[in-house]
Amino acid sequence: MSSEDVDLKKRKFLSQATTAIGAVGVCGAAVPLISYLTPGREAQMSAKAVEVDIADMKEGEQRTVVWRGKPIWIVRRSVAQVDSLKKLDAQLSDPNSAIEQQPGYAQNAYRSIRPDILVLVGVCTHLGCAPTYRPEPQSIDETWPGGFFCSCHGSKFDMAGRVYKGVPAPTNLEVPPYHFLNEDTIVVGKDRA
Ligand code: FES
Repeated sequence: MSSEDVDLKKRKFLSQATTAIGAVGVCGAAVPLISYLTPGREAQMSAKAVEVDIADMKEGEQRTVVWRGKPIWIVRRSVAQVDSLKKLDAQLSDPNSAIEQQPGYAQNAYRSIRPDILVLVGVCTHLGCAPTYRPEPQSIDETWPGGFFCSCHGSKFDMAGRVYKGVPAPTNLEVPPYHFLNEDTIVVGKDRA
């Protein structure tokens, strides 16, 4: 990883952007991303790969960073959340990630390099709203095992970003290019060389 790939000077900006997006999530508002992530100076600032320290993330915790003007979710999945993925295939539109919404190294049962760490673009594949992270079982309906919910038009995604059948979103959530620099550091926006 060369120094120009990861612009550490942008960390302050990313921290501020993360706080802003987190505030939207707390309010539970389904805000079309276009309304606050229009291409501009901020998007350009985060166009380079983004280095994320995940050492202090707890099981079940979600973190958001910005890459190319898009919110990128990082979730440290618990064992129970990983196990939940095995039971949902019949309810999903594309359980095997046949549609290219992820790099080849994430075309697996977890849609990730490591089962415990999920990395997704946090933009609904229907019309671009911002889904919210709803990990609590039964918080959307009686059968809800936890996942991501887009309240704009009711699209549901599991804990790997796979879309359920019968909702407006046509495809799974996108997985961006990324790799692990070490055990506790993810580089979002660049495949391993
Ligand atoms: S934008 Fe998410 S369901 Fe329509």
